[in-house]
Amino acid sequence: MSTFQAPKGTYDLLPPASATYLAVRDALAAPLKRSGYGYVETPGFENVELFARGVGESTDIVTKEMYAFETKGGDRLALRPEGTASVLRATLEANLHKAGNLPVKLWYSGSYYRYERPQKGRYRHFSQVGAEAIGAEDPALDAELIVLADQAYRSLGLRGFRILLNSLGDRECRPAYREALQGFLRGLDLDDETRRRIEINPLRVLDDKRRDVQRQLEGAPLLRDHLCDACRAYHDEVRALLTAQGVAFEDDPRLVRGLDYYTRTTFEFVHDGLGSQSAVGGGGRYDGLSEMIGGPALPSVGWALGVDRTVLALQAEGVTLELPPVTSVFAVPLGDEARRVLFAAVTELRRAGIAADLSYGGKGIKGAMRSADRSGARYTLVAGERDLEAGVAQLKDMESGEQEAVALDKIVDRLRTLLG
Ligand code: HAM
Repeated sequence: MSTFQAPKGTYDLLPPASATYLAVRDALAAPLKRSGYGYVETPGFENVELFARGVGESTDIVTKEMYAFETKGGDRLALRPEGTASVLRATLEANLHKAGNLPVKLWYSGSYYRYERPQKGRYRHFSQVGAEAIGAEDPALDAELIVLADQAYRSLGLRGFRILLNSLGDRECRPAYREALQGFLRGLDLDDETRRRIEINPLRVLDDKRRDVQRQLEGAPLLRDHLCDACRAYHDEVRALLTAQGVAFEDDPRLVRGLDYYTRTTFEFVHDGLGSQSAVGGGGRYDGLSEMIGGPALPSVGWALGVDRTVLALQAEGVTLELPPVTSVFAVPLGDEARRVLFAAVTELRRAGIAADLSYGGKGIKGAMRSADRSGARYTLVAGERDLEAGVAQLKDMESGEQEAVALDKIVDRLRTLLG
């Protein structure tokens, strides 16, 4: 062990478990790739003001959980706590929204950083796959994203998740609701910090998990009862589209998201096997964010699915993904000449797309066969001096134990046939 450890709230992804992470990332992105979303990648850090916009409502993510720092050049930067603001910034900067083809549909996958109190399912460095559809107000787009996330989770074999759905209204109806809610909240018995929150971001108070707070919130006014006609019609259409596609959801009039930019449709995918960090993914519409960061009006919708928590959800359900073998053929050379010959054979197998590995380090046959076992390879290819004299290598099926001599120039052909 070295004197160093991974920083608090982080963990390393190592084989063999890391293969599951890669497969989960791929599976979460797959439905997007066949639905018109193009890949976008943005820097791991941004100007801090992009996230702490100085306008709108404050959130924990912005006020407490950002890794913000000043560079030697005096720039104020932050490690990205989320992807939406970055992707929108990149879209505006490259004028993608002016190419005459709205919505701009983008997907991404990467690391995000939040200085949170670590616990199971909540890390300071975590991974998301995300999607943003920028520049269109269309309930079918909201429904599309929810359907695609549902498909992504199902393709992994997950079944124990639920979709919570809400509408947060828009600039027409939310202000009046906000005031009504503030009026209600001010009359409750709450601590100072929560009282401050009432003035800055009252909707977040609804999300307070403490039991004594939840008890007092029972009679709180709900946005559902204050939606303007346009928001209500929009929301009803999203719900109808989901229902028509057979995607089950639960109306959750108290669903509030942890970021300040949401309008209208908001949703969360929660998994009941995960304890308190139950949200495996979430998102919604953010019609005002573009203007908040200096862009034109660009109504948009998106989501981000947490890779770490999706892996935990698979574990909670006992789902094991069927992954292709890391190595199909493991070559064991006995002697220098055999190493040259099998090195060539392994290179040729790899060129042919067959996963192959070689025993390195001049191990004896025992040690090399142990490596072959550990590799999980279905076949081993052993060659010693006598085999080379006969122009063959010994190919062994590790499952059946059967062994055959294969001519050196037929190795790829034979394995191709055997592996189908
Ligand atoms: P979010 O709800 O903050 O939304 O994060 C989305 C998902 O990322 C969560 O549901 C969770 O699975 C995962 N996640 C968040 N924080 C952590 C953490 N500390 N440790 C492990 N996993 C975590 C957003 O980030 C929005 N940008 C989503 C969005 C896209 N909205 C519109 N477009």
